[in-house]
Amino acid sequence: MCGITGYIGKKIATDILVDGLKRLEYRGYDSCGVAGISPKSELYLKRVSGRVDALDALIAKDPLKKGVVGIGHTRWATHGVPSEDNAHPHTDCNKQVVIVHNGIIENYLDLKGRLLKTGHKFKSETDTEVVVHLIEEKLKTLNVSGAAARGAILEPVFFEAVRRAIAELQGSFAMAVLWAKCPNMLLAARQHSPLVIGLGDGENFIASDVSAFLKYTKKAVFMNDGEIAAVKADSVSYFNFQGKKLDHSPVTIQWDSTMAEKGGYKHFMLKEIHEQPESVENTLRGRLLPLNGDILQQEINLPSELIKNIKGVQIIACGTAYHAGLVGRYVFENFGLPTSVDFASEFSDRAKIVNKDILVIAVSQSGETADTLYAVREAKASGGKVLAITNTLGSTLTREADFVLYTHCGPEIGVASTKAFIGQMAAMYVLAIHFAVIRKNIFEADARKYVDEFLKIPRLIEDTLAGEGAISKVAECFAQSEHFLFIARHINFPIALEGALKIKEISYVHAEGYAAGEMKHGPIAIIYKGMPVLAIATTSKMLSLVANNIEEAKARGAEVIAIVDEDSRKIIKASKYIVVPKTLEILSPLLTVIPLQLFAYFVALSKKCDIDKPRNLAKSVTVR
Ligand code: M6R
Repeated sequence: MCGITGYIGKKIATDILVDGLKRLEYRGYDSCGVAGISPKSELYLKRVSGRVDALDALIAKDPLKKGVVGIGHTRWATHGVPSEDNAHPHTDCNKQVVIVHNGIIENYLDLKGRLLKTGHKFKSETDTEVVVHLIEEKLKTLNVSGAAARGAILEPVFFEAVRRAIAELQGSFAMAVLWAKCPNMLLAARQHSPLVIGLGDGENFIASDVSAFLKYTKKAVFMNDGEIAAVKADSVSYFNFQGKKLDHSPVTIQWDSTMAEKGGYKHFMLKEIHEQPESVENTLRGRLLPLNGDILQQEINLPSELIKNIKGVQIIACGTAYHAGLVGRYVFENFGLPTSVDFASEFSDRAKIVNKDILVIAVSQSGETADTLYAVREAKASGGKVLAITNTLGSTLTREADFVLYTHCGPEIGVASTKAFIGQMAAMYVLAIHFAVIRKNIFEADARKYVDEFLKIPRLIEDTLAGEGAISKVAECFAQSEHFLFIARHINFPIALEGALKIKEISYVHAEGYAAGEMKHGPIAIIYKGMPVLAIATTSKMLSLVANNIEEAKARGAEVIAIVDEDSRKIIKASKYIVVPKTLEILSPLLTVIPLQLFAYFVALSKKCDIDKPRNLAKSVTVR
């Protein structure tokens, strides 16, 4: 996690760095800081424990020097508590070299021990600080003072010091480094943590994610693992860790900077909930017809033979993406393809079950989730082919997977995932329908019926969103509850899990999602008088059983809030109803999730929680 920014050009670096950090705050927000080099080659730095707004206010009161090169960081703590001392950037003993880092240096204790013995003084508890001291040490061995005295150009020396330091690091890192003696060059390096270079006109940028510089340029180069970039105002050169020069062509990013702004909504989460009709529409666009999957195959290059020959699907993902995977399992299996789903973090020992007969589908909004990336590597090592479903162009996952299907949801900034989830589910349906047609598990006419109904979903989501006012009133009634239970059966069971996850993440209350039929086997004991139980009870072949489970909960005092459609409304007896439009049972998760997202949002709003930046969380979890 953590967000990194870097700038070199003609403008005042601090302004650009702080603005970029605000856009990257979703990656971590417990402390932050910026550093730069003044025109007189002095290194300056400002850090705070807390958010970027606090840093901004501090700089407004006590302005920094006006350098045109600098680096910035917003932190999600791993080693060392959130505090000003542990905030990045970190400097060496002589305050000449400065670094920002995202990732974990696994051998930092060994390195620190060695550096302490050679007299280095540490000012923080972080793993990052060892890197900057190690660079200082390498500069010494490269005899910088001698080189400076001889008037040698210091850029190659700086590059070599950083390269040699990196060679000793184990773990994951994305970093940007500045040296006061070499103010015309920023160095950036990447190993298992994302880093992208933005190419401007007479100015260049470094960031963890393009949203930090989209305002200035849409031309970007996504760095690969094992690469160092030497970034100057008018050029960028790329090298591998052995120092060999590399060529990279930039890509043009289609997102624009306003897509990453709130657009009149109070929170990104609410905006993103409202963007879901478009997310589904964009993820489906041009992909469903013709039904033979030609378009999809041209796009993702997944051979028909592979689709015909596989014996099963293995889905791996984390958090909300895992819930999309669970929905995917019901959908693939509905069309006759056996499917397993695992948390990526629990997949390790099961990776050996993967072989060429199993298609692995890795689902990740960011494409940077460390657990998912490790699981992908393990699956590939066992001989599996990996198809990625992701929202992020150029992410690590897209480069490690064999095939990529993008969800076109646009940037998701709220830490609690909403529109990415619906895009991931939509992608599952697209794949499952095409696979079924190619494998001849479905007649084209039947597939056509699914597609026709599927194409109506964006409008039905809009209708569901129109019920926002009513949902907010229900949420307010229960906002002070300390426990929530979400129950559902079959394909809506993952939606119960997702409803519970949303409320936990942003309201910090206890919530559980449970398979409605399992309640009687134990968890029903937790129900007390007045406990809110949200039950998904839309029309399905399981409806009468769900109705029984609702009665069982009511008999123990639960206040049942039922998510129903107009037909099931006539059958279900509950304290409160939230009505969604009727669709095919298999497509219903695309609608039933909407009121649960809104419910979580309004509960958190009543409790005055920090909805877009919930405590302890980060948007993209790049550590294992
Ligand atoms: O970027 P990813 O989809 O791989 O992220 C996976 C999870 O970390 C993510 O879905 C997380 O659970 C969200 N905060 C859920 O709202």
